[in-house]
Amino acid sequence: MLTLGIETSCDETSMAVIEDGHKILSNIILSQVIHTEFGGVVPEVASREHMKTITPIYDQALNKAGVTLADIGLIAATMGPGLVGPLLVGLSFAKGLAFAAGIPFIPVNHIEGHLAANILEHAELDRHHLTLIVSGGHTLLVEVREFGEYEILGKTKDDAAGEAFDKVAKLMGLGYPGGAEVDRLARDGNPKFFRFPRAVRKDGYNFSYSGLKTAVSLYLDKLDRESFEAHKADIAASFQEAVVEVLVEKTVRAAVDKNILHVTISGGVAANSRLRKLLADKLKRRQKQLFFPSPVLCTDNAAMIAAAGYYRYEKEGPGEFIVEATPYLKLV
Ligand code: KG4
Ligand code: ZN
Repeated sequence: MLTLGIETSCDETSMAVIEDGHKILSNIILSQVIHTEFGGVVPEVASREHMKTITPIYDQALNKAGVTLADIGLIAATMGPGLVGPLLVGLSFAKGLAFAAGIPFIPVNHIEGHLAANILEHAELDRHHLTLIVSGGHTLLVEVREFGEYEILGKTKDDAAGEAFDKVAKLMGLGYPGGAEVDRLARDGNPKFFRFPRAVRKDGYNFSYSGLKTAVSLYLDKLDRESFEAHKADIAASFQEAVVEVLVEKTVRAAVDKNILHVTISGGVAANSRLRKLLADKLKRRQKQLFFPSPVLCTDNAAMIAAAGYYRYEKEGPGEFIVEATPYLKLV
C-alpha cells in the first residue's frame, strides 16, 4: 500500500510517498530559507510560505514517485506538536484531499514521526528498543515497548538540545539554525579546550540545557575578538562535548538499567557527528547497538510522517476527519 505523508509543523514543507511503511518512493523537502534573515522562525511567514508551496510540493512528490492520487491508499499528516498556522496548512490540505478522493486519512504526532524514521530505515531494529529523540523542540528518552506503546524515561527541564545548539550558534554569530554549523566547526576544534558545566542531574534521566547556554554566553562575553576568532572551533567543540556527553551518559545508563539491546536516536540533533560516534562507541562496549536515520530523515521530513501514519493505521485503522491542529501535542 502507498502512503502519502505531509509535514508542515515548522519551517519545512515536505511530502513523501512510501510503500508498505519501509520503501521511500519520494521525499520532497523544501526548507524555508526566508527565516534566516530574522534569526528564527516567524510563524506567520512560515504559514504563508507553506500555502505558496504546498501544491507544487504535492505535484513533485507524486511525480517523483511515478504515481497518481488514485494509487494512494492512505494520507498521513502531522497534527502536532508544532506551530498552529503551519500545522493547519498541511492538515487541512490532507483532510481535503482525503475527503474529496475517498482515501483513508490518519493524523500523525510529529514526535512519533521522528522515532518512526528508524523503524522505516532499519528492518532489523527490535520492536522493543530505547530511543533518544533530540530536535529543536524536544529532548526525550523513551522506552518503546512496541510502536505506539511508550514510557517516557526522561525529558528536558528547560531548553531542548537542538535549541541549545541554535542559541549558542547565534551567540557565536553562526546563523540560524546553527546546529549543523556548530557540528561542522567543531570537527577542527579541541573538545577539551574549555570545560563547560555538565548538567548531569540526579533526578533520573532528565536533562537541562539552559545553564550551559548561560555559561557559554558568560564565557563569550569575557573573550576579546582576537581570542574568539582564534579559538572559535575549540569553543564550538567544547560546547558540543558538554551537550553530547550528558545525552550519551543518560542514554547508556537507561539502556543498561532497562536491559535494552537496541537503541535509536532521531530528530535534527541525531545528525550530529559527535553524538553518533560517542554513543555508538559507548553502547558497543556494553554489547548494545545504536541505530540512527540517514541525515535527511533526522531533520523534519514527510517520509517519517508517512511511516508513522502507516504503522498507526496498521494498528488502529483510519483516523477521524475532526482532529484539529494541536500545537502542544504530547507523545503519551
Ligand atoms: O527535527 P528538526 O528538524 O526540527 C524539530 O522538530 O525541532 O530539528 C532541528 C534541530 C535544530 O535545532 C538544528 O540546529 C539541529 O536540529 N541540528 C543539529 C544538527 N543538524 C540539525 N544539531 C547538532 N548537530 C547537527 N549536525
Ligand atoms: Zn521535528
